[in-house]
Amino acid sequence: MSAVIRTTGLSAGYGGSAVLHKLDLEVGAGEVVSLLGPNGAGKTTTLLAISGILPPLAGKVEVLGEPVSASEPHVNARRGLAHVPEDRALFFSLTVRENIRLGQRSGGPSFEQLMEYFPALANRVSQRSGLLSGGEQQMLALARALAGGPRALMIDEMSLGLAPVIVENLLPVVRRIAREQAVGVLLVEQHVHLALGISDRGYVLRQGELIAEGTAAELQESRQLLEAGYLGELAV
Ligand SMILES: Nc1ncnc2c1ncn2[C@@H]1O[C@H](COP(=O)(O)OP(=O)(O)O)[C@@H](O)[C@H]1O
Ligand SMILES: [Mg+2]
Repeated sequence: MSAVIRTTGLSAGYGGSAVLHKLDLEVGAGEVVSLLGPNGAGKTTTLLAISGILPPLAGKVEVLGEPVSASEPHVNARRGLAHVPEDRALFFSLTVRENIRLGQRSGGPSFEQLMEYFPALANRVSQRSGLLSGGEQQMLALARALAGGPRALMIDEMSLGLAPVIVENLLPVVRRIAREQAVGVLLVEQHVHLALGISDRGYVLRQGELIAEGTAAELQESRQLLEAGYLGELAV
């Protein structure tokens, strides 16, 4: 498998103290990989370290086979790494079309192709993004990230603040995008079972330690996780 994202012994944290410990993680082209764990487990920290925003305290990160150096998130973006943060980072005063244009690069999917993934946006192209519903804003954040034609896509808490039915509709689109655009997706998600339902594999963090990894089917059935009451701490 050719990895689009790989961490080896990655430790990261804040003010010099690690909250993520020695993580080995891999995402292949066209794969959807869930990164799961309760609040404070270190999921967002992992994504920040992969994107180069947060310098690793130990270990290394590779994106598209190249080492990531800290403080150079723009270099990773150029290489083909897209990051949809928790707050979605949209320009609320700009329209749907303008937000997407900001993400577009040559070689990426066309505007029409993006609208096909998110038909709800197609009727709103001239609307300011601040006026969209939460679900539509999330679609726009995904569409803008895809507009750059990424090879790797990290999505942090896509479903935050969204009704479960919206999440159920959006996750299969993520799966379809991974397949059709050959993008490796690293998905941080509180809806564990829904996320595993569209994932190939997953990793489970707790207090910065990797406590389980495996295929989505293995994790869905993991007695170890169920007995620890672990999955019960999360929305299903
Ligand atoms: N900017 C920060 N400064 C100090 N500690 C932080 C900061 N951001 C997160 N943390 C701590 O790091 C740990 C992991 O946080 P985070 O990666 O955001 O977890 P998750 O995304 O899994 O909820 C938590 O204990 C959190 O309190
Ligand atoms: Mg987080």
